[in-house]
Amino acid sequence: MRVVVTGGAGFIGSHIVQRYLAESADVLVVDDLSGGHREAVPAGAGLAVGDITDPSIVEGIVAHRPQLIVHAAAQVSVSRSVADPEHDRAVNVAGTRNVVHAANAAGARVVFLSSGGAVYGEADGAAETAPAAPISPYGRHKLEAEAIVRESAHGYGIARLANVYGPGQRGDLEGGVIAIFVERLQRGDRIDIHGDGEQRRDFVHVDDVASALSVIGATDRSGTWNVATGVGTSINQLVAKLGGLMGVVPATRYVARRDGDVGISRLAIARIGSELGWTPGIRIDDGLARLIAGG
Ligand SMILES: NC(=O)c1ccc[n+]([C@@H]2O[C@H](COP(=O)([O-])OP(=O)(O)OC[C@H]3O[C@@H](n4cnc5c(N)ncnc54)[C@H](O)[C@@H]3O)[C@@H](O)[C@H]2O)c1
Repeated sequence: MRVVVTGGAGFIGSHIVQRYLAESADVLVVDDLSGGHREAVPAGAGLAVGDITDPSIVEGIVAHRPQLIVHAAAQVSVSRSVADPEHDRAVNVAGTRNVVHAANAAGARVVFLSSGGAVYGEADGAAETAPAAPISPYGRHKLEAEAIVRESAHGYGIARLANVYGPGQRGDLEGGVIAIFVERLQRGDRIDIHGDGEQRRDFVHVDDVASALSVIGATDRSGTWNVATGVGTSINQLVAKLGGLMGVVPATRYVARRDGDVGISRLAIARIGSELGWTPGIRIDDGLARLIAGG
């Protein structure tokens, strides 16, 4: 199996690469290293440093002769998408168009990492048929990119991910709330909780995401699937769980709710279960325990 993973130097992408290498695939990472780093690319994978917004990337991808392209490269910051929507559009829409061109030219299937949280907006158990209600340019552009991916000539899978966590996630970026909290607790720093902390999220472990993407990559079906746990955890519950696991009483401060923060984001996972036979294997308590233990 010959695979290209865009964004393979990033958090989720590097776990995907690891998984394909374990399946003896020939993997090329395409990443501009704007958010990821060279050291994160697992040994055994090739790295082509390049920007997906540059049309010449198409040639570089096709030269690898991939049968599958997993497209994880993205502008991932919601707040940056608000501050600079044109940049977000360039990476997340035009960049996706280039990746789909490459897939069409190479005869490859495309698996695209979309965002359930950003696409559905406020959602308590959203199924894939729920109306999209993105509240940020990031969410709107992910939706536009999904439409481009659906035009792929050789099959596609769209994975609408919930909030992903696990080893390798950076604690200095927005979004990775678990990584941020763990880092702060390890340093003995105070945790800032936006709003009242009762907002709930569907936290899915990156190993579960990698296994779901592998299933989506392997099927002949084209479709859109939520990749989540279906379980909501509030930020207050999360802080309590982390404190318990780390044996500390977290120092917290409640600060202003962030613009665009939804009250609940929880996804339904019946479709991926019934159509592809995938279910998440890692409960939040176990995933957090593993993360804190360093794995
Ligand atoms: N982390 C989450 O909870 C989450 C949730 C939903 C969806 N997603 C999606 O999953 C994918 C991976 O996210 P992540 O959390 O691993 O983020 P990440 O920032 O760790 O990885 C993104 C990678 O894309 C690369 N990249 C960015 N712009 C690029 C460009 N123009 N050309 C080439 N490479 C570029 C970065 O260098 C980085 O390595 C993204 O598409 C993101 O939208 C993530």
